[in-house]
Amino acid sequence: MEQIIALCKRRGFIYPGSEIYGGLANTYDYGPAGAELLRNIRNLWWDNFVHKRDDVVGLDASVISHQEVWKASGHTAGFADAMIDCKNCKYRMRADHLIEDKIKEKVEGKSLQELDEIIKNNIKITCPNCGKHDWTEVRKFNLLFPVNLGIVEGDQSLAYLRGETAQGMFINFKNVVDSSRVRLPFGIAQLGKSFRNEITPGNSVFRTLEFEQGEIEYFFDPETSDWEKLFTEWKNLMWEFITQKLGINEENLRWREHDEKERSFYSKKTEDLEYNFPFGFKELWGIAYRTNYDLTQHSKFSNKDLSIVDPQTNKKIMPHVIEPAVGINRMLLMILSDSYTQEESRIVLKLNPKLAPYKAAVFPLLANKPELVEKAKKIYHDLRKNFVTVFDGRGNIGKRYFAQDEIGTPYCITVDFETLENDTVTIRDRDTMKQERVKIGDLIPLILRKLG
Ligand code: GAP
Repeated sequence: MEQIIALCKRRGFIYPGSEIYGGLANTYDYGPAGAELLRNIRNLWWDNFVHKRDDVVGLDASVISHQEVWKASGHTAGFADAMIDCKNCKYRMRADHLIEDKIKEKVEGKSLQELDEIIKNNIKITCPNCGKHDWTEVRKFNLLFPVNLGIVEGDQSLAYLRGETAQGMFINFKNVVDSSRVRLPFGIAQLGKSFRNEITPGNSVFRTLEFEQGEIEYFFDPETSDWEKLFTEWKNLMWEFITQKLGINEENLRWREHDEKERSFYSKKTEDLEYNFPFGFKELWGIAYRTNYDLTQHSKFSNKDLSIVDPQTNKKIMPHVIEPAVGINRMLLMILSDSYTQEESRIVLKLNPKLAPYKAAVFPLLANKPELVEKAKKIYHDLRKNFVTVFDGRGNIGKRYFAQDEIGTPYCITVDFETLENDTVTIRDRDTMKQERVKIGDLIPLILRKLG
């Protein structure tokens, strides 16, 4: 993990948040390569689950939402983690993470009292900061971020930063039905930032205060659609996306079902698609059968009837929902972990070329020969009309290959003296390191073909 974090900083994928002011825990910024990679993941997700489907439409709801939204959804009351403080050094941690780290016991779904007993009765559970075993009681800590709007403080102006993108889709359900041509079963999909007041040290962007989610609410009538069948179909679509579209190694993936204690209050069945991160198998993508809990709650709290008439049965129903929900930043961390390869002479990110921040890099063999630089710049300008390309004229050619391998650029093109004679260049493949000489005019179709 440390090696991946170092590469991310060195090559402009991920920087610690507010770094020049000493950093801000659990926040991160994305550099030039990271911003491109995030964008590629988002675009693939949106293309696959919205553009390529007849039955899913997109939405982009507000990040700041009315306090009633979160009361209705149950988040102001129930969206909380169990926290504990070290009395000696005041270090704060999630109680479940503390137990898992120290004695490797899985405690998902345990009550506050049960967690408290495990910690108090186990002398091995010491503070990771000061080493003492001197803990406060375990208590609940709500994860929602409150915001005060306008100049008046107090309950009237209280709103929340959304803790999940899902609620935007429930509160706009009627808007979408009335303004588009959707028919049950159909999905609303959204990509966007969510905010949670998480207290967890380490593991880079795995768990942060601010993160991006890709969520789909797939609405259906339980009388005409079988929820178990839909649940399995969506699981297959998630698996296919990860293994085929992102190219992740199947051996590093597994499903885990939540038991009754662990399941969220709104869910009848939940499974996590877990990835084997450098720190172990952890949740990447969850799928839950949320029934019609959310639409029912919002109907009650808003006094607006959110039920619709199912055209197949002509009956008024409150649709049920299956929800696949993934973290885009967590997907980015998975992709970096899966593609990070240490070879004898280099580190290389063997990214799926579709995800690579830059598809090609163009170099002049020697940076101090204007005729080579000019020719290389011309090729660079032509290529970037077709795909994202970088120009690199710094250092020597070996260092440039080394840098592009670490960024995961699939193809490097070098302009040398032979180019000036016969309009050919060398193109080097990132994974095999093999070079072939090709005509400049053939470069674009060749690379487009390789990108698939
Ligand atoms: N609407 C359901 C929901 O939000 P969740 O399991 O809490 O479910 C869905 O979140 C996904 O969002 C997770 O599987 C994870 O990938 C991502 N996620 C959740 N909290 C996160 C955090 N603090 N930082 C980064 N990603 C997070």
